[in-house]
Amino acid sequence: MICSAAPAKVILFGEHFVVKGKPAIVTAVNLYAKTCIMELESGKHLLISKQLRQETDLDKEHVPEQLAQFKRIYEIIYEKYGVIRGFKAIIDSDIPVSSGMGSSAATAVSFTHSLLRFLGVEFKLEDVNNIAYEAEKLVHGKPSGIDNTVSTFGGIIYYKRGYMEKLNVKWPQNLSLVVVDSGIKRNTGKVVMDVLERYERHEEIMKHIYVAAEQLVNKAKNLILSSRFYDLGELISINQSLLESIGVSIFETDRIIYAMIESGGLGAKISGAGRGGIVYGLFMENSLNNAIHRLKNIGYKPIIVKPVEKGVIEFHSS
Ligand code: MEV
Repeated sequence: MICSAAPAKVILFGEHFVVKGKPAIVTAVNLYAKTCIMELESGKHLLISKQLRQETDLDKEHVPEQLAQFKRIYEIIYEKYGVIRGFKAIIDSDIPVSSGMGSSAATAVSFTHSLLRFLGVEFKLEDVNNIAYEAEKLVHGKPSGIDNTVSTFGGIIYYKRGYMEKLNVKWPQNLSLVVVDSGIKRNTGKVVMDVLERYERHEEIMKHIYVAAEQLVNKAKNLILSSRFYDLGELISINQSLLESIGVSIFETDRIIYAMIESGGLGAKISGAGRGGIVYGLFMENSLNNAIHRLKNIGYKPIIVKPVEKGVIEFHSS
């Protein structure tokens, strides 16, 4: 079987502002979406999502809504590379769905990568990224492209529409990202549209907030490049305040953020679209236990994630 795995992401700084051309910083983390493909003699093109507990025949005109992005990928590849031998693709993922960790992008990247490998055609990672971006448009409406980019290329990335720069630094051993899923699911495309509409209603005010976000991300980039990771905490908190002002912060995520700060977090903020979804906090090793205990006490399941350097990878399964 041909298998590919693509990582989840945590947006460290700059979500939403990135949709209007400002920069953001994102890291790939060690949770993965995986696709394995095997040949089918019948010539059918079947797709099974274990995580969503759905399956479909990709040649059908209508497929379940949550699987539409895979049909889009299949069609693009079909148009570009011609007839595809019959296959069964099985998609599985450790990444929580609709939470802000880039689950849809990572599944799109892993499916695209494994299907191109199955076909045996020559391709570049840019091709995978571009095809996955087309699928993201179906899911999110006006995506900036940040999610598919980090899932494809991995590492810590400074990203603007049409530009990406890998920040080649070593993440310190004693620094962790703690991620908590608020459990509140929301539609990224809808939140993005609401934020854009708020911008239009109050442009004279909002433009300053967007410039502040840009300055903040550039400052964070310089700190990261000079390995001053421990100084990022305050910028994370300022970024959270900017997210509040664009209307994506809610009581449940605020509660998680305060619990993280009170238990020793250097900084904490929403990551991704907000209005629920995930919160991440930056923690030194010595406050980690305290934080995990506190977050569990208020009913959440914190996970510790680490930045990973690689994006989509091949693996073999029998
Ligand atoms: C979603 O992961 C991040 C947003 O900035 C949307 C986007 O960049 O496409 C909210």
